[in-house]
Parts: sequence; C-alpha cells; structure tokens
Amino acid sequence: MKILVTYSSKTGNTKKLAQGIFHGLGNMDKTILPMNEVKDMSGYDVVLAGYWVDKGGANTEAAEFMKTIEGKKVGVFATLAFWPDSEHGFKSITAGEELVKEKNHVIGRYICQGKISDEMVAMFEKMGENSPHKPTPEKRKRYAISANHPSQADIAVAAEMFRERIEADV
Ligand SMILES: Cc1cc2nc3c(=O)[nH]c(=O)nc-3n(C[C@H](O)[C@H](O)[C@H](O)COP(=O)(O)O)c2cc1C
Repeated sequence: MKILVTYSSKTGNTKKLAQGIFHGLGNMDKTILPMNEVKDMSGYDVVLAGYWVDKGGANTEAAEFMKTIEGKKVGVFATLAFWPDSEHGFKSITAGEELVKEKNHVIGRYICQGKISDEMVAMFEKMGENSPHKPTPEKRKRYAISANHPSQADIAVAAEMFRERIEADV
C-alpha cells in the first residue's frame, strides 16, 4: 500500500497537520509532498489531501489538484480559522470531500482550527465598523484560541484516524 500525503498551505498550519499525519503513519510506504510538487499519482494507492479553508471550501490550488485524483482511497483534511465543529466547519470539509468522492473511495475526513495569520487580523482591524469581518471581543477570543492550532491533540487524532483506516483497508 503506497501512500501519498499532500497538502496546500499558505501560512504553515495545514503543512504542520500534514507532517503530523505523515509521521503517524509510522513505517508504512509513504511520501509527503506539497501539492504543487506532485507530478504523478499513478504509483499511489492512498492519497491524503489537505487544504486550508478559503471562503468555506478548499483553496483554489487544492481544489484544482483534488479534482485530478482518480481511482484512489482518499482521506481529506483541512484547517480553518473558525470552530471546526460549527456548521461552517462541517460544510468546509464536506466541500473538499465533494471534489473527490465521485472518482475515488473516501476513507476519512478531518478538520481542525489553524492559526489565523497576523496579516489577516491586521486587515480585519482596518475594516469599517459595519464590516462583518470587523474584530469584536468574541472574535479576538477565537483568534487567540486559533493560535494554538493545529495542536498536538488535533494532530494525534487525525494521525490515528488515518492510520487506523489505512491499516484496516476500509
Ligand atoms: C483568503 C483567506 C480566506 C479564508 N477563508 C476562511 C474561511 O472561509 N473560513 C475559515 O474558518 N477560515 C478561513 N481562512 C483562515 C484559514 O483557512 C486558516 O487560518 C488556515 O489554518 C490557514 O492554513 P495554512 O496555514 O495552511 O495556510 C481564510 C484565510 C485566508 C487567507
């Protein structure tokens, strides 16, 4: 069973999660690459594809890449700044699954928070009072929590889940 872990990551959160998942696969036959370095997927049985959430779905690079995966066992993972157990979180990972499910067998999906970048917060701070992105005290609490993610616990859960499903050949 040859496994490819691949990811698209702008600020490092999804890369960190991907590396943790990769590490958790132990001595399996595995490769890790950013999506823009994957030239040929023909040798792999399993593809674990990770993206950062952009407007409630996979970012463009990841979406374009994921649409090209065919005939594989696929695991989908993602990081987002909002709560992963919210409706927005659920829709954001389901949107990624939608990109691969017709041409592949989906073995699992995982989404967790990832630190919202300082640049993004600075941009929100500059927005007008009526903007939906204007930081509020509640949002600042969420930004602060997001700074600790993906945490070691997030990574451990994702790594265990994908390892178990690959081992069980589901
Ligand atoms: C242009 C842009 C759009 C984003 N859209 C969303 C979004 O719709 N929902 C959300 O929860 N987070 C959103 N985020 C936050 C990122 O998905 C989140 O911080 C993610 O962990 C970044 O991952 P990375 O470090 O791998 O790039 C957005 C970030 C950027 C830069």
